[in-house]
Amino acid sequence: MSVGIDEISFYTSNYYLDLRTLAEVQQTDPDKYYEGIGQEKMGMAAPDEDIVTMAANAALPLIERVGSDAVSTLMFATETGIDQSKAAGVYVHRLLGMSNNCRVVEMKQACYSATAAIQMACALVARTPEKKVLVIASDVARYDLDTPGEATQGCGAVAMLISANPRLLEIDPEVGNHTEDVMDFWRPNYRSTALVDGKYSTKIYLRALKKAWENFRDVSSLAFDDFSHFCYHLPFSRMAQKAHQHLAKLNKADMTAEQIEAQIADTLSYNRIIGNSYTASMYIGLTSLLENCKQNIAGTKIGFFSYGSGCVAEFFSGTVVAGYEKYLHCTEHQTMLDNREEVSYEKYLELYRHPDPRDGSDLTIEKVTKGHFRLAGFSQHKREYVAS
Ligand code: HMG
Repeated sequence: MSVGIDEISFYTSNYYLDLRTLAEVQQTDPDKYYEGIGQEKMGMAAPDEDIVTMAANAALPLIERVGSDAVSTLMFATETGIDQSKAAGVYVHRLLGMSNNCRVVEMKQACYSATAAIQMACALVARTPEKKVLVIASDVARYDLDTPGEATQGCGAVAMLISANPRLLEIDPEVGNHTEDVMDFWRPNYRSTALVDGKYSTKIYLRALKKAWENFRDVSSLAFDDFSHFCYHLPFSRMAQKAHQHLAKLNKADMTAEQIEAQIADTLSYNRIIGNSYTASMYIGLTSLLENCKQNIAGTKIGFFSYGSGCVAEFFSGTVVAGYEKYLHCTEHQTMLDNREEVSYEKYLELYRHPDPRDGSDLTIEKVTKGHFRLAGFSQHKREYVAS
């Protein structure tokens, strides 16, 4: 019996800022963003969107297909927690009308935790193959204004059904891990934006890739040449390009620069126009590959490098299942992306500064999002979510 991803769907915000607009205000060459970091647009959440509404919107098509009783566990991966105690997934559980017999838990380790959730979900399914696990990763990436990280903001959620005999991707049990206590990126409880040592973080990312890959090679019979494509954690597209060149070099791959680039190019399409979605980004990258790759990649091996600052990294592998192309949500994803609205720099600042009450004050939020679920306001310290 194989275990892996049976269905995948993602969602992002109503608004985006074109990085040309940011470059103009900063009097920077737009190519620094379009070419240098490989990003074109960054998603900005509307006041009535957050990790819960994006997550519920991402998961809705999956639950509509399998029914609300089919899922035994909902694992919610995020580093944009909205409560120190209650799991954000419990709100999603209600919004989607899921069974009271479904367990819900939230997981955190920077951008890595969705991968931990998937591995744990695979173990649960291996134990009770008739059950499905819903893994959701949802984040809003925020840095201080006028910092090097600002252009790498973004947001998004991805929902994945983990099942026995999956229709999209069989996940292999062998994994390579690397954990190391480093301060490359972190967000203390009293801050709404991350602190980051940008250049250092890119070095640690590459070091963790080498270490996780070496650990993977110790336990797996797969070598670099066995993979047709690679999905990397995507803080910005250029990071994945650098990482893949690094891995190819470590493995002395006999390939041209174009061949190396072709192994990741299709994973980057959505990220370029969404920005960093932290826990969700690598899996939106997988969706991008499956939905945008011109050739049919059934039967091929994909390598995954998941990285979460702090840091925990994992290299693992999977095989694309025959017939996968029939179970994708390409049209819905394209429509959702096309329906987003571009904002001016002034509107971006307004969205960036929109109050997220920390003093317990009540707030009513008007409907803006085009999504099915929205945050209607805050009352008596409680967040109020509704279907719109
Ligand atoms: P910076 O220092 O302002 O940028 O910000 P730069 O000066 O290094 O320029 C970036 C690239 O653009 C360079 O290319 C320039 O040469 C090029 P490179 O040398 O890297 O190949 N460039 C141009 N190209 C074309 N035309 C031009 C031009 N000008 C410059 N005119 C930095 C870069 C990464 C530091 C910043 O974006 C940042 O701090 N980002 C946030 C941190 C981050 O994303 N780190 C990635 C690794 S850590 C990670 O992935 C985890 C994370 O997702 C969080 C988590 O796990 O929770 C962040």
